[in-house]
Amino acid sequence: MIIMKKKILIVDDEPLIRDYLATFFTTTREFSNCRIDIAVNADEAIAKIKEKNFDLIFTDLKMPGKSGLEVIKFVGKQCPETDTVLLTAFSGGDSARKAMAYGAYEYIAKPISVDELEMLVRRIFERQNLIQENIKLQQQLKDKIIYPKVIGKSKALTEIMDLVKMVAPTNSTILITGESGTGKEIIAEAIHRLSPRTDHNFVKINCAAIPESLIESELFGFEKGAFTGAIKKTRGKFEIADKGSILLDEISEMDLDLQAKLLRVIQEKEIIRIGSETPLKINTRIIATSNRDLAEEIKKGTFREDLFFRLNIVPILLPPLRNRKDDIPALVENFLKKACIELGTKKKIITSEALNLLMSYDWPGNIRELQNAIERASITTIDSKITTKSFSFLNINQDSRKINPENFNPESFFDGKTLFEVERDLIFYTLKKTENNKTDAAKILGVTARTLRNKLHLYEEQNPEEF
Ligand SMILES: Nc1ncnc2c1ncn2[C@@H]1O[C@H](COP(=O)(O)OP(=O)(O)OP(=O)(O)O)[C@@H](O)[C@H]1O
Ligand SMILES: [Mg+2]
Repeated sequence: MIIMKKKILIVDDEPLIRDYLATFFTTTREFSNCRIDIAVNADEAIAKIKEKNFDLIFTDLKMPGKSGLEVIKFVGKQCPETDTVLLTAFSGGDSARKAMAYGAYEYIAKPISVDELEMLVRRIFERQNLIQENIKLQQQLKDKIIYPKVIGKSKALTEIMDLVKMVAPTNSTILITGESGTGKEIIAEAIHRLSPRTDHNFVKINCAAIPESLIESELFGFEKGAFTGAIKKTRGKFEIADKGSILLDEISEMDLDLQAKLLRVIQEKEIIRIGSETPLKINTRIIATSNRDLAEEIKKGTFREDLFFRLNIVPILLPPLRNRKDDIPALVENFLKKACIELGTKKKIITSEALNLLMSYDWPGNIRELQNAIERASITTIDSKITTKSFSFLNINQDSRKINPENFNPESFFDGKTLFEVERDLIFYTLKKTENNKTDAAKILGVTARTLRNKLHLYEEQNPEEF
C-alpha cells in the first residue's frame, strides 16, 4: 500500500463535518501522512489557496458569505492541478452540475459514507500520481531528445552555443569545422534538435565512409531499374530528411562531380533520383562538417569554391580542446557519471591531482580522446577513486613518451640528458612504437622481458605519480 503524502484543505462552516473529514484522514492508514488545513468560509479558503498549493480541496456548498462554488471556480482558474470535491446535501442538484462545470472533480452527498469517501480519495490521488508520473516521463523524454547535451562552460563553447541557438530556428546552411573529435556532429545534432524541424528526421551521411560510386544513390535515391541491382524505387537521404535536416559529414571527401550536383540541389532546392528526369522539391536543411580546412582544399582544386560559399553561410569553428581547457572538468564529470552508469558501478570520484593532470594534457584526439580515457580509467580502476595512476596510459608529462616515432629528432632526444634518462626515454620511445607491447619492445631493445619489467618498476618507484 502506498502511503500518500498530500496536502488537503477542508472548507466547511460546520465543525462536525470538518472534524469528520479530518478524522477520516488521520485514522485511515493510507492517508495518515496527509497534511490537513481547515477553512471555515470561502474567503478564508481562497486566502489559504493563494498562499499554498493543495492537492485536494473539499468544500461545503452553503456557507455564510460566499458559496463553495466560488472556491471551486477560483481553484479551476488559478490552480487547475488541484482537485476539488463539493460537499452537498442534494446530490445531482443544480449546484452539483455547476460545480462540475467549474471544474470540480466530483461531488459527494452528505451524510458522507466512509467507504464512498475512501474510494473517491484513492481514485483522486491515484489519478494525480499518474499525471505527475506522466509529466516526469515526458520531461525525461524531452531531455533525451534534446540530448546529446553539449557539455562545457568555456567562453569559446558558450559563444558557439549562443550562435547555435540563434541559427537553429532559421533554414541557413551551416558549415561546422574543427579537428577530429571536437564535437562537430554533436553540435550539428543540437542545431537540428533546437530547430522547428526537430520532429522530422535528422539524417547523417558520412561522405568519407561510403564508396564514391554509392554516395550519389545514397543521397538522391534511385528509380527501379536505374542501374543493375536497382530492384525497387528507393528514396535517398535528402528525401528522407525532407522537412528535417541532413548532415553531410566530412564533406571535403566528396568528389568534384558530386559537389557540382550538390550545388545544384542547394540552389534549386530539388533533387533528381538516379534514373529519373523529374525533379522533386525538397525542404531539407543542410549541415556540413569538415575536419579539413576547406580553403586549403579549394587551393588544391579538390573543393569547389562556389559550393564552399553556398555552404559557408553560417560558419561554426570548433576550437580544439587544448584551447578551451575550461571545458575539461565538466566533461570529465559527465563522462565519469555516464561510464559508471554503463558499467553498473557506484559513482567514482576523480582526485584533484588527476584532474590537474587531465588539464595539463593537450588532447590531440580532443573530446573523443578524453571520453575514451575516462571510460578506460573507470574500467581499470577498481577503487572508487580515480587517481593519476589510472591515466598512466595517456603518456602525460614524459617528454620521451610524447615522441612521435615518425618525426623523431635525435638532437632534442639526447640533448642534456643523463645516460639513465636516455635509457629510460629510449625504453618509453620503443614502447610507444610497439603500442605498449612489452615483449616486442624487449626484443627491439635486445633485453629480456624481465629486464624491461624491472626497469619499468624502477621508474615507477622513482616517479609513481607518472604511472
Ligand atoms: N561538448 C560536448 N559535450 C559532450 N560530449 C561531447 C562534446 N563534444 C564532443 N562530445 C562527444 O565526443 C565524441 C566526439 O564528438 P563528435 O563525434 O561530435 O566529434 P567530431 O568533431 O564529429 O569528430 P570527427 O571529426 O572525428 O567525426 C562524441 O562521443 C561526442 O558525444
Ligand atoms: Mg564527426
